[in-house]
Amino acid sequence: MRLEFEDVSYSYEGGEAKKKKRSGAKKAQWGNAPDAPWALRHVSFTVEPGEFLGIAGHTGSGKSTLIQHMNGLIHPTEGRVLADGESLASKEVARRVRGRVGLVFQYPETQLFAATVFDDVAFGPRNMGVPEAQIEQRVREALERVGLCFEQLKGRSPFSLSGGQQRRVAFAGVLAMNPEMLVLDEPAAGLDPKAREDFLNMISGFHAQGTTVVMVSHSMDDLAARCSRVLVLSEGEVFALGTPAEVFADGERLRSVGLGLPAPVAFAGQLRQAGFPLEAGFFTEEQLADAIARALGRAVAAREGADRR
Ligand SMILES: Nc1ncnc2c1ncn2[C@@H]1O[C@H](COP(=O)(O)OP(=O)(O)OP(=O)(O)O)[C@@H](O)[C@H]1O
Ligand SMILES: [Mg+2]
Repeated sequence: MRLEFEDVSYSYEGGEAKKKKRSGAKKAQWGNAPDAPWALRHVSFTVEPGEFLGIAGHTGSGKSTLIQHMNGLIHPTEGRVLADGESLASKEVARRVRGRVGLVFQYPETQLFAATVFDDVAFGPRNMGVPEAQIEQRVREALERVGLCFEQLKGRSPFSLSGGQQRRVAFAGVLAMNPEMLVLDEPAAGLDPKAREDFLNMISGFHAQGTTVVMVSHSMDDLAARCSRVLVLSEGEVFALGTPAEVFADGERLRSVGLGLPAPVAFAGQLRQAGFPLEAGFFTEEQLADAIARALGRAVAAREGADRR
């Protein structure tokens, strides 16, 4: 499914902000301004089928607001969101899209509610009208996809599980609806380093199997290493959109909106400043290590050539 944002603006104040804008009485104030009327302003971009789109931006830049438009949970104050060309403003379209786009909130474990893991994971598919005879299979598969054992956990209270397990159960509840697009708000926030890596690898695995993924993250390293494109929001507007190579090429520009660079990119910049001849265009630790090895190899070869002459 192709999800298209067409000049989307959103205000939590609804019509009030619209009025201000139309009358031109008050120019929008951004960021930390207490009366900032627009959480999103003139946002246009497309989520392409099969891509892994990262979303970055300072606190309050509009990331969570943006992704809640993706399954019609909230609707643009101005502009349109189109799923395969059909506007989500139509209730019928929004209802259909909601089953195809799985939205996982930040700290989704806080939304667990049922008495058993089974009933919690089953809630979504039951709500979608999946026949009861298929529910157990859905729940079993979803729990297995997040690396949990159906037999061990189905009868347990979700609240008796560890935080990391609770996050997986909450995630399974979304997967049980078989979404073709996953939209994740800071999916690894608050997990320890090992759980974090496992969780992100799991998400990359879903993407490799064909699921379209949209992931909000504060970690430039995670975005650089995993996403095919990155959208940067600043004060509700699209600040940058492109491949990691394009977006992370200009460190100063990113710093101007309160963002950093992926650690390997920042480190490479420092090496270059110190006169080390390092090529550009990489984002992960492995790629940095390879680039350093290649640069050293070139230096050694040049020295040997000079010695022979
Ligand atoms: N329920 C709400 N009611 C009113 N204003 C809101 C509401 N939720 C968010 N906002 C405002 O909308 C703007 C964008 O908020 P949003 O939560 O989308 O930012 P974010 O990029 O997700 O931030 P963070 O990184 O802190 O999660 C902020 O100015 C915020 O104060
Ligand atoms: Mg947020």
